[in-house]
Amino acid sequence: MEPFRIKAVEPIPFPGPVQRQAALDAAGYNLFRVPSRLITVDLLTDSGTSAMSAAQWSALMSADESYAGARSFERFEAVVRELTGFDEVIPVHQGRAAERILLGAVLQPGEVSISNTHFDTTRAAVEAARAVAVDLPAAAPVSAPVPFGGDIDLDALRRALTGDGGSDVRCVVLTVTNNAGGGQPVSLGNIAAVRQLCRDHGVQLLLDASRFAENAYLITERDLEHAGQHPREVAKAMFALADGCWASLKKDGIGNIGGLIALRNGELARRCREHLIAVEGFPTYGGLAGRDLEALAQGLTEVTDPDYLRYRADAARWFGQRLMEAGLPVLQPTGCHAVYVDAAQLLPHIPPHELPATALANELYLAGAVRTSWLGTLVFGRPNPEGGPDIPAPQELVRFALPRRVYTQTHLQYVAEAAAEVVAKADSVRGYRIVEQAAALRHFTAALQPLNATAPSLPRPRQRTAVKHRQ
Ligand code: F0G
Repeated sequence: MEPFRIKAVEPIPFPGPVQRQAALDAAGYNLFRVPSRLITVDLLTDSGTSAMSAAQWSALMSADESYAGARSFERFEAVVRELTGFDEVIPVHQGRAAERILLGAVLQPGEVSISNTHFDTTRAAVEAARAVAVDLPAAAPVSAPVPFGGDIDLDALRRALTGDGGSDVRCVVLTVTNNAGGGQPVSLGNIAAVRQLCRDHGVQLLLDASRFAENAYLITERDLEHAGQHPREVAKAMFALADGCWASLKKDGIGNIGGLIALRNGELARRCREHLIAVEGFPTYGGLAGRDLEALAQGLTEVTDPDYLRYRADAARWFGQRLMEAGLPVLQPTGCHAVYVDAAQLLPHIPPHELPATALANELYLAGAVRTSWLGTLVFGRPNPEGGPDIPAPQELVRFALPRRVYTQTHLQYVAEAAAEVVAKADSVRGYRIVEQAAALRHFTAALQPLNATAPSLPRPRQRTAVKHRQ
């Protein structure tokens, strides 16, 4: 059961079927564009959506809002140093700011960053530095279950470092846990082996530590050698193997905003701070209020509590079971921050360029005002430079993300019931076409048009027919 009791509550809306259909039409069939006042259970993301503890709320009041050298920064810095072992601690307003600043300082144009999987914002930061992002996951998330599905492929990494172009590789990024790859953990053995390869080739090893505590807990569950160890000790062992890290603290910082860069190398930190001052603010607040730093320092202390982490993994497991009973193909084993479903398997009649993951997520919204997100061709696919259908993503996943300490088992039961309704009519679910998209990170703002076999004609590209129709 939840290892907390509830002290403050917030009502949730229950829009009816007609309202849900109208909201989806008006949003261009993109759930990012649906207002939260029309969502009953919001599993879009676990990012920035956590419920803070009583200790975090009380820390807000004792914050120091001084522009420079605030006491709240000193507390934040001390907590991050103790946890990571990195001396150089730089706050930023969220993860992608850390990525832009750090990867911009590490990578020169034409150089290469290799990862188990770059998250979408990470890839965007690599590409903004005019460098190349290469993903070498050891296992595709939809393949047979493995305990450490987040591991990087060591043989492929060795080949990349020793082959032609090996000297262009500047950093290896391990995303712990691997969000884009099913939320699976990276093993300590894998991190250690990468450490060795990086040392041999003079390449930096950086952790995207946004979900470091969940990765550490899953190591204690899945690696006998670390069974019974305190997750904080495992987390420290992970950080000890790296040269530095960044994190979105909207996840395992249990904060509503925030991020960090933490490094061993003082010279690299100096260059990051120079850029930070231009885009985020003075290095002791980095785009955050003193109260945010207090809440994050407290959150980083609470997040490695073994009771909390066990509840988190158990909740995901229980929810995964309920979705499976509802008939959804759930990726196994489940991790902590989300349950992933293979939309391609449920909707084999919808090809990738017709966005099966998006189609499934939209049906879940129509069934119960449940909001999920999709990690498929709309996010990771690319427009085909030669025209024709988009270059597809390797998987079509729907992610049911679990905000920290927000929803109870009953809320998740409700979602499973909505899922069963969608499964019952899976054969009749149709795909979508993109009618409006941005050049980068298109999924946040794209407008779509449902594909209807009986429609007399298809809309012209770049015309937002659905939205226009309602005006
Ligand atoms: N790295 C990982 C692994 C992430 O999951 C995210 C964000 C970021 C970096 C960027 O951090 O949002 O603070 O700028 N993931 C969110 C999600 C958006 O829904 O998974 P940010």
